[in-house]
Amino acid sequence: MFDTLKLSDYPTKNSGILRASSSTRPAIWIVEENGVRAVVKDFSKNKLFFRNTIGRFLIWRERKAYRKLRGISGVPLLYRVIDGLALVTEEIPGRNLENLEKEMKLPDAFFEAMKKLVTHIHDKGLAHCDLKRAPNTLLGDNGLPYIIDWAASISEKEFMIPPLSLIYRRFKLDDHMAITKLKLRHSPETISREEISRYNYRSWGERLIRAIRDRLREVLQKAV
Ligand SMILES: Nc1ncnc2c1ncn2[C@@H]1O[C@H](COP(=O)(O)OP(=O)(O)O)[C@@H](O)[C@H]1O
Ligand SMILES: [Mg+2]
Repeated sequence: MFDTLKLSDYPTKNSGILRASSSTRPAIWIVEENGVRAVVKDFSKNKLFFRNTIGRFLIWRERKAYRKLRGISGVPLLYRVIDGLALVTEEIPGRNLENLEKEMKLPDAFFEAMKKLVTHIHDKGLAHCDLKRAPNTLLGDNGLPYIIDWAASISEKEFMIPPLSLIYRRFKLDDHMAITKLKLRHSPETISREEISRYNYRSWGERLIRAIRDRLREVLQKAV
């Protein structure tokens, strides 16, 4: 699939571009071959130093995650990587969740499916770590959730030794808390008291882990 696609095929007409690149973000474009559409996440349009350091690193991380998750139905297929700088993934017909609550309310079935999907992903030994950002979840035209953008994901194997294992556990919990956050936006009346208190509760240990994690994230974000 998309075997002959080149980075120089970047569309010149705006129609195929979902988003042009910016200083720290890759370009996102759409390509179609034999009636199949794919999304290309492409660092080759970023500045030389950035694309060859951070860009390559993020594509390598995301590719690793997609390989682990191959076959899960709420995760798009990875077709291929081009020159270490771009990922070509299955296009999910639908839209991302950003500002969706202003247009419609997601039903219970969506949240149930999302819970199952997140658990399935964790069972494969991966935490997404950036699910609280609504653009990283898609509502498929079939009503089901799809999770994209795996560049920040962390694998259980890399975080096996304490205290990293505790941080990994916290990241998994955060993935689930992202669903509660989404429910708070869409249908707060359906959240159980237990879920709310879990969302708000922080033990001192968790506070510490959060502080470390937030610091880590800050450092990483500065690096990006
Ligand atoms: N496989 C896909 N199918 C449909 N839309 C996608 C797909 N991948 C990305 N998109 C769209 O592009 C946006 C940005 O993609 P993402 O991977 O989150 O990149 P980044 O976080 O660098 O902006 C998403 O919010 C979504 O709207
Ligand atoms: Mg994203």
